[in-house]
Amino acid sequence: MKDATPAPQTIFLRDYEAPHHWVRDVALTFRLAPRTTRVISRITFVPNELNRGDLVLNGEELQLIAATVDGAIVNMEVDDTHLRIASADLPQKPFVFEAEVEISPETNTALEGLYMSNGMYCTQCEAEGFRKITYYPDRPDVMGVFTVRVESDLPVLLSNGNPVERGDGFAVWHDPWPKPAYLFALVAGELVNHPGRFTTASGRDVELNIWVRPGDEDKCAFGMEALRKSMKWDEDTYGREYDLDIFNIVAVDDFNMGAMENKGLNIFNSSCVLASKETSTDANFERIEGIIAHEYFHNWTGNRITCRDWFQLCLKEGLTVYRDQMFSGDMRSHAVKRIEEVLALRARQFREDNGPLAHPVRPESFVEINNFYTATVYEKGAEIIGMLRRLIGDEAYRKGCDLYFERHDGEAVTIEDWLKAFEDATGRDLSQFARWYSQAGTPRLKVSESFAEGRLTLTFAQSTPPTPGQPDKAPQVLPIAVGLIGPNGDEVVETRVLEMTEATQSFTFDGLGARPVASILRDFSAPVILEREMDAATRAFLLAHDTDPFQKWEMGRMLAKDTLVALILEDTPPARDYLDAIRAVLTDDSLDPAFRALVLGLPGEDDLAQTLFDAGVTPDPQKIHDARETLRGSLARHLSDALPTVFRQMETGAFVPDADGSGKRALRLSVLSLLTLLDAGKEAKALFSKADNMTEQAGALAALLAAGLGEEELAAFGQMWRHDRLVMDKWFALQVALAAPARAADVARDLSHHPDFTMKNPNRFRAVFGALPGNHAGFHHAGGAAYALLADQIIALDALNPQTAARMTGAFETWRRYDADRQAMIRAALERIRAKTGLSRDVTEMVTRILG
Ligand code: ARG
Ligand code: ZN
Repeated sequence: MKDATPAPQTIFLRDYEAPHHWVRDVALTFRLAPRTTRVISRITFVPNELNRGDLVLNGEELQLIAATVDGAIVNMEVDDTHLRIASADLPQKPFVFEAEVEISPETNTALEGLYMSNGMYCTQCEAEGFRKITYYPDRPDVMGVFTVRVESDLPVLLSNGNPVERGDGFAVWHDPWPKPAYLFALVAGELVNHPGRFTTASGRDVELNIWVRPGDEDKCAFGMEALRKSMKWDEDTYGREYDLDIFNIVAVDDFNMGAMENKGLNIFNSSCVLASKETSTDANFERIEGIIAHEYFHNWTGNRITCRDWFQLCLKEGLTVYRDQMFSGDMRSHAVKRIEEVLALRARQFREDNGPLAHPVRPESFVEINNFYTATVYEKGAEIIGMLRRLIGDEAYRKGCDLYFERHDGEAVTIEDWLKAFEDATGRDLSQFARWYSQAGTPRLKVSESFAEGRLTLTFAQSTPPTPGQPDKAPQVLPIAVGLIGPNGDEVVETRVLEMTEATQSFTFDGLGARPVASILRDFSAPVILEREMDAATRAFLLAHDTDPFQKWEMGRMLAKDTLVALILEDTPPARDYLDAIRAVLTDDSLDPAFRALVLGLPGEDDLAQTLFDAGVTPDPQKIHDARETLRGSLARHLSDALPTVFRQMETGAFVPDADGSGKRALRLSVLSLLTLLDAGKEAKALFSKADNMTEQAGALAALLAAGLGEEELAAFGQMWRHDRLVMDKWFALQVALAAPARAADVARDLSHHPDFTMKNPNRFRAVFGALPGNHAGFHHAGGAAYALLADQIIALDALNPQTAARMTGAFETWRRYDADRQAMIRAALERIRAKTGLSRDVTEMVTRILG
C-alpha cells in the first residue's frame, strides 16, 4: 500500500546544485508496442569531480525490468519518482548504467513522455517528460550524445539527429550534438512526407520533411516555405546556420502546447503547421509561419545553448519569441505586427501580472514547472530582449549575441551568463536592467508635461504595484521612445530614446518654437502602463498626425476606451468627434488596410473590465457587453455610407496569405461585421456562400453570429467540415465565443455532449472550454452557471491530462475584480476543484495560487 499523495514539494532557484554525474553518451532501444513498449538504455556516466555523490535518476510510471552498473547487479533504491544508487556502490570513474523498463504509450492521456495519437507514437519531453520514458537525470544541465534504435513494423521511424541505419522493422538515429533529455524525440507511424531542401550558407545540403497523416499532404507547402525562410533569416540576421543533414517536422493531432523544438525533429500540434486556404484563416497562416520560425530558431537559442535549470526558461523562450517576432515583422509588416504583439501582451501578460498568478520572468520557485510556460516568461521575456536592444543599439545587440553564441555553445547557462555577454560586448553595467528578470508586476509610468521658453519638460514617475511575495519594488530601467509633433501636424523632433533609471526623472527638449504634442512610448518601447492626462482633442490630433504607427493606433484605442467607459458609467452617447476620427482612418487610402482594421477594432470586454477595475469601479460584465454592442451600432450607422464602399474596395483576387492580402481581408471583415448590423446579414450571407477561403467563410459566419444571426450558416458549416478536425475546432469555438451572454454556458454544455467532443484532444477541449471564458459576459453571467461548468470540466480533465487542466484554471485569475456575489461563486468553484481527491500537483498549485 502506498501512502496518500504527499504534499507537493516546492523547488527553489536558490537550491540549485550541480549534478553528481554527467552523461557522456546514451544508447536507447525502443521496442514499440501500444501497452508494453520496452525501453533499453545504456548510459555512460562520468562522476562530477566538483560535486561527488549518489547517482540520482528520475523515473515515473516506469516498470523496471532490470538494471546494472558495468554489467553487474548493484544495490539500488527505487520509488515512484527516483532510482538511486549510493556513491559507495559506484565506481569513482566513468561507468555504464544499463536498464530495461516497460511503459504503456497507449494509456498515456497526459500527452507527456511517449504516447499515442491516432495510432502514431510520439513524444513530448519538455519540461520533465523524459522521466516517463526511462530512468535518467532528467534535468537540462545534463547533456549527452544520443543514439536511438527504434523497433517497429510501422513504416516511418524517426528520432533526433541524422539517420544512420534503416532495416526491416528498425531504424537507428544518431545525434552528434550533446543535448538535455527534454530535447529527445521519437515518432513512429504511418506518415507521409512533404519534402524540401535547403542549402546552408556554408554549403551543407539539408533534407527537409514535414510528416503528416495521409490526406494532409496538401496542407504542408506553406509550412515548408516558412521553414526555408526561417533558415535563411537566421543566417542573414544572426549568422546562425543549421547543423545536421536532416530537419524533420511532424504534425500530431493530440498535443498539449503549440509545438516543440526537439533537436532535428520538431513536433507540432497539427493546428500549428497544417495550412490550406480552404481550411486555414489568415490568422492561422500568420501563426503557423511564426511558430515554425520559433521552433527552428530554438536550434541555436535553446538547443545549442540551453538552460542550466528550469528557472532560466525565459533564457530560451523570451529570446526565441523575440526572434520570431522580428522574423514575422520582416516577412510582413513591423507596424502591424507590433500592434498585434501589444494587444496580446496586454490581454494575457498584463492580466497575469496584475493578478494572483503574477511572477517574475525568472521565477524563484515552482511546484510544477509546466505551470510556468506563461505569457510572462514568453512575452514579457521577449519584451526584455527588445528593451535591451533599444538601449544598446542594433550593432551592440548583434555583437552581444555573437559573443553569447561563441562563449556558450554546447553549454547549459543562466540569465547572468546572457547579460554578461552584453556587458562584455558593450562595457555597460546591466545590473539594474537585470531587475526586469526578478521583479514581477507591470510598472505604472506617470508623465506630466510643462512648456516654457521653447523648452518642453517631461517628468516621469515609475512605480510597480506589489505582487505575490514582492511587496516593494525598486526602479527599473525604462527605455522611453519619444517624438514631438508640432501644432501644424509636422514632426519637429524625431524619435529619441529616453533612458529612465530613477523613480522620478525629468527630460527636456530645447529650442522649440511653439508647444508641441509629445508622442510618448513610441513602438511601445517598454512593457508598462502609461498614465497620462490627455483630452480627446489631443488624442484625435495624434491619431491624425503621429508618424509612429503604434502611437497612432494607441490614440484611436484610447478614444474608443474613453467612449466605452463613458457609455458604461454615464450612458453618454459616443462623441461625434470620435466617430469622425474613425471615419477618417477608415477611408484614408494612404493607410495600410491591416492598420485600418486594427483601428476599427474595439477594446475587448475583458480589457474594459480591467480598465474599470483599475479606475476603482466594479465591472458589470453585462453592462460592458451592452455598451460595446451599442458602440458597434453607432459606428455602423455613422459609417453606413462608407462601409459598402470599403467592403468592395477590399475584395482580393486569388487568395494569397501574405501581409497585403490578409490586411485587405482583415479590413473587409471588420467592415462586414458592422455592415451586418445594418443589412440583416445580407452581405455576410452572400460572402459566406461564395467564399473560396476559410478567412472569409469563418469571418462571415462570425459576423452573423455576433449579430445574433447565422443559425443556418452555422449548421451548413458544421455539415461541410464534419470530416476536418481543425476546421471543426473553429465550429465549436465560434458558437461558444459568440453566444449571447445568457446562453453561453448552455451552448458550451450542449457542445460537450456533441458526439465529436472529446476531452482527450486538447484542441477540441480548448475549442469549447477555452472559448467560454473568452466570452466575457457569458462566462460571468449572473448565476454563475459557466463558473460551475468550467470547474466540472477542469476536474474531469485533470484525471486525464493535468497539464491542460491546469492551464484552464487561468480563466479564474481575474476573480477579484468582480462583485461579492461573483467572487463567492468563483471561490466556491475553485474550492470545489481543490477539494477533489487525487487532484494533480499541476492543478493544485494553480488553484492554490489563484485563491491566494
Ligand atoms: N519549448 C516549447 C516552445 O516554446 C514549449 C514546450 C512546452 N511544453 C510544456 N509541456 N510545457 O516552443
Ligand atoms: Zn519556445
